[in-house]
Amino acid sequence: MTIEEFQNKFGIIGKSKEIKDLIDIMMQVAMSDISVLLFGESGTGKDVFARAIHGFSSRSEKQLVSVNCGAIPEGILESELFGHKKGSFTGATETRKGYFEIADGGTLFLDEIAEMPLTTQVKLLRVLETKEFMKVGAETVTHIDTRIIAATNKNLESEVDKKHFRADLYFRLKAVSLNIPPLRKRKEDIVELANHFIQLYSERNNIAKPVITPEAELLLQTYPWPGNIRELKNAIETAIALNKDGILNESSFEFMTKGEAEDNYMRNLPVFVKKTTEEVDREMILRALIEIKKDLIELKELVYNNNNNGKDEKNIDVNIDDIAPISEVEKEAIKKALRYTKDNKKQAARLLKMNERTLYRKLKEYEIG
Ligand SMILES: Nc1ncnc2c1ncn2[C@@H]1O[C@H](COP(=O)(O)OP(=O)(O)O)[C@@H](O)[C@H]1O
Ligand SMILES: [Mg+2]
Repeated sequence: MTIEEFQNKFGIIGKSKEIKDLIDIMMQVAMSDISVLLFGESGTGKDVFARAIHGFSSRSEKQLVSVNCGAIPEGILESELFGHKKGSFTGATETRKGYFEIADGGTLFLDEIAEMPLTTQVKLLRVLETKEFMKVGAETVTHIDTRIIAATNKNLESEVDKKHFRADLYFRLKAVSLNIPPLRKRKEDIVELANHFIQLYSERNNIAKPVITPEAELLLQTYPWPGNIRELKNAIETAIALNKDGILNESSFEFMTKGEAEDNYMRNLPVFVKKTTEEVDREMILRALIEIKKDLIELKELVYNNNNNGKDEKNIDVNIDDIAPISEVEKEAIKKALRYTKDNKKQAARLLKMNERTLYRKLKEYEIG
């Protein structure tokens, strides 16, 4: 398979040297059973690449199970990963398989590996070395053949220095470490990605495909994209959703950079207009929270469900991966509000329907800004 065929198969857009080189290495390592560490900022495509590696490997017929290590409460992570014996703790009414076992023969994607507690890291290293582990509360070992792909947006080396991450596990994982560059370092991919998302969004929503002007393309190429491809995708979707004439020009993307100007503009508008924008944002945040709540309920059911193992397994990779701690969601919402208002705390607080003092407290708590 050529690099281009690989890109087509797994929906990976990009003609930059960075992406081509990355895929070249990925195709080489995919076939082996060696663990892979994916490093990249949020939104650079770590999930996409993990799926591609699994899909290109001889394990593709078996499951790819995704686990977000930062999203599962520390107390249940080990039992989630390794499974548990009936009666090993309150609520363990049945013996359950962990993700390692569910992914037996396939691949386990450990996302946000830097968030894994040190005690679990010890266990993980042992599994990597021996291919066996003990379920929580068990006395005998379970053998598995599960390939590990780990991902992080943190600098693991400095996590090791800070004693947040075990050096031995780090060295084990970094044997094959793939660095996915941020979008601002591969600007030549931006236009192609933008067109890809325009096509995708128009098809999915059954609308005529809008045209993007060269000026707008230039604007997208010069924007720094702190949220990388995810942010680009969202920006395209917003621009199309707000578009009226089938032409995406510079002003279609004003919402990304508008800050002070809009702030002043909004201040002079009647109250009801001001509310509309706020309500839209608030609704988006609320919707995200509701989604997460739904996922949490499903997760709880998954963990404590005591009578149907087979049924549980089907949904595992969907549920767990989509859950983020409420604090993360809050942090993201705050960051978004600040970006949208160009760091205007007063207006950001208003958008978030949050007391300004509370916002300042949260900024400190989350170390934003
Ligand atoms: N090279 C790429 N080509 C096309 N779409 C991509 C590419 N990389 C990422 N995406 C899309 O961008 C979004 C974010 O990617 P994701 O893999 O979830 O990022 P990460 O896991 O690093 O935060 C997803 O919608 C994904 O489909
Ligand atoms: Mg991800």
